[in-house]
Amino acid sequence: MANPPGTLNQLVDLLRQYRLSAVAMAACELDLFSALEDPEQSIEGLAARCGASALGMELLLNACAALGLVHCGAREGGRRYSNSALAQVYLVRSSPRFIGSAAMRQYHVLYQTWGRLAEALRTQRPVQPYGREGLASMSDEEVRAYVLGLYERGRDGARAFARRLDLCDRRHLLDVGAGAGTYSFELLERSPHLHATLFELPRVLRFTRELLGGVSIAPRVRLREGDYHEDDLGSGYDCALLSNILQTESETSCQALLRKVFASLEPGGLLIVNGIMHDATSPAELEQALFSLSMLLYFPEGRAHAADTVTTWLTEVGFTSITTSPPEPPAIHTLIAARKP
Ligand SMILES: C[S@@+](CC[C@H](N)C(=O)[O-])C[C@H]1O[C@@H](n2cnc3c(N)ncnc32)[C@H](O)[C@@H]1O
Repeated sequence: MANPPGTLNQLVDLLRQYRLSAVAMAACELDLFSALEDPEQSIEGLAARCGASALGMELLLNACAALGLVHCGAREGGRRYSNSALAQVYLVRSSPRFIGSAAMRQYHVLYQTWGRLAEALRTQRPVQPYGREGLASMSDEEVRAYVLGLYERGRDGARAFARRLDLCDRRHLLDVGAGAGTYSFELLERSPHLHATLFELPRVLRFTRELLGGVSIAPRVRLREGDYHEDDLGSGYDCALLSNILQTESETSCQALLRKVFASLEPGGLLIVNGIMHDATSPAELEQALFSLSMLLYFPEGRAHAADTVTTWLTEVGFTSITTSPPEPPAIHTLIAARKP
């Protein structure tokens, strides 16, 4: 649980926490952290590069310094600003771990969407649908930003996820609803004999294909276009991955999808379910509670299902040897492994 507000001031602070996000996102939108790669730049120089006024730049820098994203030191004739270590790694455009697309998606899409939470609750409809119908109605640029965001935001988590698994004795992975392929890429990095088929909607796969151009494991990846509600997933796989999928689907769809994945696996095949699930017997942690709410904003029937519920579905479908690994903080993902007899 978050620290409960105990005073009026703390309550008001809670109501205006959005200001902190607004500062961080404005700095990303102006590409301030890339500009700060040259710490010798004057405020005027930074302002010109970012397209802001000198006064606005100074105020933004001070707010970023107060947030700990920027360091502020003295120099002759004024202040000298530089990136914090974290901003340098994740918010500078030239960094290999830049998460700018994910940050901009927060700004241009998710920030506005969260502001319409009450509307989603009243109308019982997502305000920014990301299911197959939602993706079909987006522009190419929006789908591209979505896929890049999945990649950038998912990379660190996917790396930690892959470390929890040993797939060295497996040959062919089916990644259902693979998105940017982030999780498969990390698994292939660690398992040199493994090949992967990424099953995804065609509009998304188009941009996954672009990302493949930049990864060394590309020759071991196959792309398979399709809709997992309607199309055949293929066969001959000795492992399958459902990563961040069940939480976007209703109970009925999850059960149908698990049956399909079961059918596509060879005997002895391993299914890995990775996602945000909750413990049905205790109140949700803040992140999980927010996550479940966010599903109402994006997916008509999505929610974080209980890990026990997923285990029951897996048993009903015919999987055995089911093991559940709870989240390893700071990650909030539960990992379930199950075998087809
Ligand atoms: C939350 S993302 C998860 C992506 C990826 N597995 C990961 O963990 O990063 C859900 C993905 O499911 C895909 N998806 C949604 N509906 C689908 C459908 N009917 N058939 C195939 N893919 C679908 C979306 O395009 C999206 O990439």
